[in-house]
Amino acid sequence: MIGNRQIIDGTAIAAKLRAEVATSAAALREKGIAPCLAVVLVGDDPASAVYVRSKTKAAREANVDVRDHKLPATATQAELMAVVERLNADNEVDGILVQLPLPAGLDSDAVIRAIDPAKDVDGLHPTNLGYLAQGRPVFVPCTPKGCMRLLREVGVELNGARAVVIGRSVLVGKPIAMLLSNANATVTICHSKTDDLPSEVRRAEIIVAAVGRPEMIRGHWITEGSVVLDVGINRTAEGTIVGDVAFTEAVQRARAITPVPKGVGPMTIACLLENTVEAAVRRRGA
Ligand code: GUN
Repeated sequence: MIGNRQIIDGTAIAAKLRAEVATSAAALREKGIAPCLAVVLVGDDPASAVYVRSKTKAAREANVDVRDHKLPATATQAELMAVVERLNADNEVDGILVQLPLPAGLDSDAVIRAIDPAKDVDGLHPTNLGYLAQGRPVFVPCTPKGCMRLLREVGVELNGARAVVIGRSVLVGKPIAMLLSNANATVTICHSKTDDLPSEVRRAEIIVAAVGRPEMIRGHWITEGSVVLDVGINRTAEGTIVGDVAFTEAVQRARAITPVPKGVGPMTIACLLENTVEAAVRRRGA
């Protein structure tokens, strides 16, 4: 807290969620069910390798087993599909995550469609996105789920609130817009073709930035007292990491805001683990 302004501590809230997951996972183990996440990594993109290592470490700490499957960048679509099919058929595997983006030449949509929706802990299968669109979510994509948890932790009233989502990706923008709308917020989705983005942002009490453009959202666009979630992770020429929001400007106006890093980022892995335990409960009837 700075005065009545809050910098949302994503690291602490994610640690709390991971501790909750660890407790649920330990209870499942008592019943002979070991929640298990399979992580599939294709190629050697360094950022993806870092994410996969963090997922593996966090899972083990939360009493969730991990099976790593590494394929070379030269893997064919058929080889990758065969791995997914094998994991679909393996009763001990509760969740399947294929790390994105895939190397050029591989069809990620086809791979996501091949994952058993009951094991789709990323929530990206059309079946799970369809359930979310119907307002009866089963698996919710991890980053949007983490954003909703942050809003809950901060005590934001969503009912009737005006929300703006900047970005319309399948991974973040679209699902977060559906979640906010399902929670009775009035949601505007903005993107690269939006006319007068500053005015759209100014109208909102809740702002979710997920465009992938460094510090694009300026502080003077933000209405005093709004809540800002910054999903962006952008590397600058100087090698630092910044969000999609100009933080030092925005923090002067927002009631609550996530920093980058240590804001939304840590929530994604925590929600992945939560989804994996939910998958184990649903699949194995615990
Ligand atoms: N790459 C970056 N974020 C994600 C994510 O949430 N899921 C997957 N599968 N890959 C990602």
